[in-house]
Amino acid sequence: RMLQDMSIGLQKSTKSNVRMEMLPSYVDSLPDGSERGAYIGLDLGGTNLRVLLLTLTDSIDGGAKFDATIKSESYKVPNEKLEGTSAELFDFIAANMVDFAIKNGLEEKMLPVGFTFSFPFDQDRIDHAILKQWTKAYNIKDGVGEDVVQMLRDAIARQGSLKFEVVAVCNDTVGTLVSGVSEDQNCQIGLIVGTGTNAAYLEKVSNIESVNGYKDDRFMCVDMEWEYFADTGALNHFVTEFDKQVDATSPMPGEFIFEKMISGMYLGEIVRLILCQLASVGNIFNEKCLGDLGTTGGFDSRYVSDITEEAIAGHGETNVVKSILASVGVKASQGDVHTVQLVCEFVSIRAAHLCAAGISAVARKIKANHPEKNDLVVTAGVDGSVYAGHPTFDTLLEDKTDELCRNHGVKVQFIRAKDGSGKGAALIAAGMYRHRK
Ligand code: GLC
Repeated sequence: RMLQDMSIGLQKSTKSNVRMEMLPSYVDSLPDGSERGAYIGLDLGGTNLRVLLLTLTDSIDGGAKFDATIKSESYKVPNEKLEGTSAELFDFIAANMVDFAIKNGLEEKMLPVGFTFSFPFDQDRIDHAILKQWTKAYNIKDGVGEDVVQMLRDAIARQGSLKFEVVAVCNDTVGTLVSGVSEDQNCQIGLIVGTGTNAAYLEKVSNIESVNGYKDDRFMCVDMEWEYFADTGALNHFVTEFDKQVDATSPMPGEFIFEKMISGMYLGEIVRLILCQLASVGNIFNEKCLGDLGTTGGFDSRYVSDITEEAIAGHGETNVVKSILASVGVKASQGDVHTVQLVCEFVSIRAAHLCAAGISAVARKIKANHPEKNDLVVTAGVDGSVYAGHPTFDTLLEDKTDELCRNHGVKVQFIRAKDGSGKGAALIAAGMYRHRK
C-alpha cells in the first residue's frame, strides 16, 4: 500500500488521492568530499533548536575527502513558542543564532546557513519553502502558505547584528540523508523516528512529475511526508481501539495515522490507554487509583524505552518499572509489573515493524530504479529520539526490514546519523557554495 501511494504521490495530477505527497527537495547533488569552508546548520526539531558550525578542511591524511569539525548548541523550544505566532518562533530562533554567534566569535562573519525545518513544505527551489501545515506539537495559528526562508531572513534582520545568509532549506529527513552520505556514499534513505516520523530517499528526477527543466536524469531527494500515510484508510485493518482513542484526543484528529502508531509523541499514550483498559476490566492495578495514568498524556514515551531496557536486561529486575509507576501515582503488584513490561514491549514491536514495512517499500522502490543491480545494498541514515533512545527499536527495525526485503533483491543497512539533520543542512549549503565557485 505504501508503494502504491508513493507512485501516486509522485504524479502531479493524481496527488489529491493521497496525502503522502512525495515532495521534491531540490537537493540534487550530494556531498562528494570536495566541499570546504565554514557553514551554519540550523535545525528546528520537535522539541529542540540546534545551531551548529560545520568546518570542512583538507584532511590531515592528504586524501580527497574533507575533515569535518562541528561545534553546536541545543536550545529547548519553550512551550509558549509552540503556541504563539510564527514571528515569535522565528525571533526565538534568530535570537539563539545570535547567542551561538557570540559564543563562537562569529558575529562579524558572513556565513551561509542551511536550515532544517522538520515540517511539510512545498518547494520550487532550494531556498524557498511554502509551509503546508504545522505538525507535531506545534499549534501556531499563522505561517501556513508562507515562505519559511523569508520568515527566517526577516527574523535575522530584526536581530540586526548577524551577517549570516540563509541559502538552503530542507526537511529533517533530507538533512539526515545528506549527512548519511557524508558517512557512507551508499546512503540513499534518510529516516527520522523521533517526536514525529518521516523518511526521504533518492528518486529519479524523471519519476517526479512536478519537477521540470532537468536535461539529465539525475536523482533528487524526495521528502515522502510518510506521517500522512494511512490518513486515507490504508491501514484501517491494523488500527486498534487504542489508536482510535489516541487519534480522537490528539490536536489533529484524523491526521498522521501512521505517525500516531510509531513516533515518540504517541507511544507512551498508546501504552497508557492499554493499561487503563486492562485496569478497567480488573486485570491490573486498582482502577480507582490510577493517578496520572488516568489522564491523557500521563505516561511519557521515555518510560516505554526505560521499561523495555530493564525488561530486556534479563535479570528479572523491576526497580525501574516500579519507580516509574510510583512516579505516575500507581501502586503495582509483581504481576502488574510484568504486564506493564509486556505492553511496552508489544507497542514497541508494532511501531518498529510498521516502520520496517515503510522502509522496505522505499528499498523496493529504489531497487526498481536500479533493475540492472542484483542484490542491491542501500544504506539508511537514521536519527530521532525513539531510534536513538529506545533499547530495541533499532534491532527490531533492522530484522523486520531484512525479512521484508529478502525476496526482493535488496538489503538495507542502517547507520545512526547522529544529529545528522543539522549537519546535513550545513552540507547542502556547502555543496551550493562549491557549485557557485
Ligand atoms: C513530522 C513532520 C515531518 C518531519 C517528521 C520527523 O511528521 O510533519 O515533516 O519530517 O515529523 O521530524
